[in-house]
Amino acid sequence: MTIDWAELRAAAAEMASRAYAPYSRLRVGAAGLTSDGRVVTGCNVENVSFGLTLCAECGLVSALHAAPSTGTGGGTPALVAVAVVAGDGDLLLPCGRCRQLLLEAGGPALLVDTAGGPVALAELLPAAFGNADLAVHRERQPAPPEPDHGSQL
Ligand code: THU
Repeated sequence: MTIDWAELRAAAAEMASRAYAPYSRLRVGAAGLTSDGRVVTGCNVENVSFGLTLCAECGLVSALHAAPSTGTGGGTPALVAVAVVAGDGDLLLPCGRCRQLLLEAGGPALLVDTAGGPVALAELLPAAFGNADLAVHRERQPAPPEPDHGSQL
């Protein structure tokens, strides 16, 4: 499928203008193309507790799931391409946590816009933790304890 990188960058830049970033003062916008041809977007949303800050890519992934495909099956489409743009218009590379989030949404072939051209996510997140690790290792270990909610209930 054709990827309109200029359109994705413009959508990401528009989202950066809507960021809520009073603490870091860095606006970030993200835009992604879905396998069914839609553009989903997000911006960073900060919090006074700092640790609760949501990256722009978190909003994008949330938007992906919030508007399921109207095509056959109606499930969540995959992400095909992503651009992340700062408030000054420059491209940013997703942080480590967001690379893992994007991997779940688009897989290793997801294309990420960089100043040097599109790069596959597999290159930005090599040797990633994935489903196979979960499936194989949880079968080999002693069963973990059930959650203990103690006296708080
Ligand atoms: N930020 C993102 O939105 N995406 C990234 O991939 C990197 C960082 C945001 C989080 C925070 O609001 C600000 O940039 C500074 O770290």
